[in-house]
Amino acid sequence: MIVYLNGEFLPSGEARISPDDRGFVFGDGVYEVTRAVRGQPFAAEAHWKRLETGLRELGIRTSLDSGRILEIYLRLLSENALEDGEATIYLQVTRGRAPRAHAFPPATIQPTVYAFASRFSPPIEQRRAGVNAITYPDIRWSRCDIKTVNLLPNVLAKQKAVEMGGWEAVLVRDGVLIEGSSSNLFGVIDGELRTYPRTNYILPGITRQVVLELAAELGIPAREAPIFVGEMGRLEELFLTGTATDVQGIVTLDGYRVGDGVVGPITKALWEGLMGRLGSSIS
Ligand SMILES: Cc1ncc(COP(=O)(O)O)c(C=O)c1O
Repeated sequence: MIVYLNGEFLPSGEARISPDDRGFVFGDGVYEVTRAVRGQPFAAEAHWKRLETGLRELGIRTSLDSGRILEIYLRLLSENALEDGEATIYLQVTRGRAPRAHAFPPATIQPTVYAFASRFSPPIEQRRAGVNAITYPDIRWSRCDIKTVNLLPNVLAKQKAVEMGGWEAVLVRDGVLIEGSSSNLFGVIDGELRTYPRTNYILPGITRQVVLELAAELGIPAREAPIFVGEMGRLEELFLTGTATDVQGIVTLDGYRVGDGVVGPITKALWEGLMGRLGSSIS
């Protein structure tokens, strides 16, 4: 595999990052995962904007811009023979290599920029069948809107889900279903779509935004408002969204059936709509 590291394209086995890198020592960095279909990154500008916001919030200065990132992405796709079918591209930017000290290093320290692309095949049968999920306490910090590489609470939540025979953990904060450990969450109650509002407690998902647009186009009533734990029994449908999650229906939550226990019509319509926008085949 050919990867990108600090201005160079090189075999992954030759890519070296210092143990003094602040990404390793402090988790001091941000990342993005972008979908590519037939060689074209999807919503590249929106992903760049979110990365740029994260970098600004953390005070990490780079010379990157959306044009340079697109060049890197296109070259990774071509170098790795990923221009047909689908792929995901991972990009991580850390504050760089410096002797260990909490405060920022001098401004002369260059950030570390690392990216790679890999083959992605959406699990169509799983999308149609739905998945099991569990609820799990949201023990993350209060800046979940920044896509940082500090993912330990997310890792613990997902691991618990896997141990319980589930596919995703729905994070619960103050009696509210917030989002998945690596996805946003939507529910349908009384025929109305609901997803947690865009605040510091969720990642502003690119897919979430597309799904809200699709709902408006399809005439599905939608509201950015919390779903309370006390309303779980009223959920007609529940689904997750994300770059590699698409629109993924949840059919059981904590072992209880959601709605009729199958992927519902609103979830299905939005999944099909998203696949259409992506240009991704579902046949
Ligand atoms: C916590 C969390 N929420 C939501 C998402 C979905 O975001 P996007 O649709 O931009 O992939 C992700 C994606 O990794 C995530 O980690």
